[in-house]
Amino acid sequence: MSKAKVTVVGAGNVGATTAQRIAEGGFADVMLIDIADGIAKGKALDLWEAAPVMKHDCRVVGTGDYADTKGSDIVVMTAGIARKPGMSRDDLVQTNFNVVKACTENWMKHSPDAMVIMVTNPLDVMTYTAWKVSGLPKHRVVGMAGVLDTARFRSFIAMELNVSVENVSALTLGGHGDDMVPLVRYTNVAGIPLSELLPKEKIDAVVTRTRNGGAEIVKFLQTGSAYYAPAAAVYEMVESILLDRKKILPCAAYLDGIYGQKDVFAGVPCKLGAKGLEEIIQIKLTPEEQKEFDVSAGHVKETIATLKF
Ligand code: LAC
Repeated sequence: MSKAKVTVVGAGNVGATTAQRIAEGGFADVMLIDIADGIAKGKALDLWEAAPVMKHDCRVVGTGDYADTKGSDIVVMTAGIARKPGMSRDDLVQTNFNVVKACTENWMKHSPDAMVIMVTNPLDVMTYTAWKVSGLPKHRVVGMAGVLDTARFRSFIAMELNVSVENVSALTLGGHGDDMVPLVRYTNVAGIPLSELLPKEKIDAVVTRTRNGGAEIVKFLQTGSAYYAPAAAVYEMVESILLDRKKILPCAAYLDGIYGQKDVFAGVPCKLGAKGLEEIIQIKLTPEEQKEFDVSAGHVKETIATLKF
């Protein structure tokens, strides 16, 4: 049986780190593609040369030619420019729209049946772009950020309570922006509701830090944005699909009436398995939570409306 093939588009920090995590996961070969093909080839070769030490047999190959991506099971799209300090994710929209459009057209020529995981920002808008340009059915295109935002939320709660991150189960919905919706009511620590363990001001502070989690890293790095946690989030999604684990993970998904929203992508709980996005789980939101979700999804819609397809 041959291994699955994952194409990672973009050999920058997010793309290369994603390629590393997937290869070291041990169940898929990785094709790393970048317009700067030397960077893709160099990083891929470097990753492959680590394989004997890391003890995996997943080939990592770099290329600048989409023909090499032929027959990919999953395409992870990371290409595009990243934020600099003071920029919002939406400031990237026009540049990254052109990048996503061109890349989508290219990979679709060679992998028309691939599952697509989008990472390029502004995340929900770029996921919509890839879905629209590719013509893929809605269960074949998802965006990454809910797992990342939820991981940040979980890591901050674990720090606050000095408990294992594995004990913290949480959920962050909505768009991947400052108005994302960390759902405190659905967050627990070893089954204990968060509200039993932390006072409201502390919870509010953790929610605010989660919303600004991406910007906090950009401020430190100055020249780019986060990549270790984003790559880890992509890895969990890829693993759930290729190993058919059917994990429920918050992902940007196409909403066609569910969660009260139409013709937009935003973060909702998704079951990911061999068939791709197998189910969107509808949970009950309070009127307040629904309002926050609507504001966040409305923001994504406004940005989509500025694009010319
Ligand atoms: C972040 C950027 C990559 O949240 O969106 O870190």
